[in-house]
Amino acid sequence: MPRNVLITAGAGHIGQELLPLLQSLEETRVILPTTNASRLKASLPPHSEPQSNPATFIAEEGSLTDPAWFQGLLEKYEVETVFLCLTTEDELFTTLNCLDCMARSKTVKHLIYLSACYDFASTECAQWILRNCSSGHVLVKILTEQKLVYGNLPFSWSVIRPTLFFINDLRSKHSMIENSVYDEPLSEQGVSRVAPSDIALAIKNVIIDESGKWNGRHISIGSKKVYKGSEIADIWSKALGKRIEMYPATEEGFRRFETEMGSKKNSAWGRDMRLMVELFAKEPFGMTEKEYLEQVELLGKEPEDYEAWVQKTVTTANW
Ligand SMILES: NC(=O)c1ccc[n+]([C@@H]2O[C@H](COP(=O)([O-])OP(=O)(O)OC[C@H]3O[C@@H](n4cnc5c(N)ncnc54)[C@H](OP(=O)(O)O)[C@@H]3O)[C@@H](O)[C@H]2O)c1
Repeated sequence: MPRNVLITAGAGHIGQELLPLLQSLEETRVILPTTNASRLKASLPPHSEPQSNPATFIAEEGSLTDPAWFQGLLEKYEVETVFLCLTTEDELFTTLNCLDCMARSKTVKHLIYLSACYDFASTECAQWILRNCSSGHVLVKILTEQKLVYGNLPFSWSVIRPTLFFINDLRSKHSMIENSVYDEPLSEQGVSRVAPSDIALAIKNVIIDESGKWNGRHISIGSKKVYKGSEIADIWSKALGKRIEMYPATEEGFRRFETEMGSKKNSAWGRDMRLMVELFAKEPFGMTEKEYLEQVELLGKEPEDYEAWVQKTVTTANW
């Protein structure tokens, strides 16, 4: 049977790793909603190896914030599987409307939802996060994950919970080169790190699974080790051959980070990101041994190594 899969954020950090993995799937149509079809088409993977029937990529231009348009796409292509990866200030409305569209479509059978590495579905963890954090792009994951558990939705789901992406470090590239500073204040509590290519592999493996064993499961993706801020600075120092200082996880460091993130996007986003890094300063951001082993089972391998990625990154041509 042909497979119809809808992938959001195809040009995004995970999407760019996921689309090449989907290319080898036969009898598959990959529907790619985007606000910028020409940019997305330019980023599609080239046909690398001869294949009788590679996956077909279909870019559809519109906005995920428009429920009628999104529902129309699901129905037009008889989409069975959706990968939902949403961001920006309207993440709450867009996520809930997308879930509603999927329920109304009557075609969608499975959702893969991109969350983050907290146990948002448990009351204990949700209460701890609500006590300690006001970041909208974090809290939206509580509501969404609880909606999946309690919402009586007419499709099955799998939740992917990544830790902190390796590529976030590239936001500090200019600052590390010019000022020898990693300018996102990561504390000594420590954060697990993850390669977007591993997140993409997990999603592909859920898409092709026919046993249903990942249905109703929350799968954390990332390193077993949590890296302290000082360790991240050491890893970059070693790779660059000069001392890199971590922004201090103090009121001053958080305030500067907020201002800089705000100037890159907008002030609300700057505050929201600050609230998230302040949460990382309260407890380690990582996973249990059991969650780590579940991940290895889904990936079929150990996750990528963060330090090796840093070393490789500084030797690439466009570093
Ligand atoms: N970065 C991390 O370390 C980390 C860790 C854990 C979880 N996460 C989660 O990962 C998710 C993806 O974050 P990201 O920064 O990596 O983004 P991203 O995957 O690079 O996605 C950005 C693209 O997604 C599309 N998009 C997503 N939401 C949209 C919306 N509401 N309206 C319109 N277009 C939308 C847009 O595509 P077009 O431009 O083609 O329209 C946009 O360019 C977020 O939910 C984030 O909270 C991130």
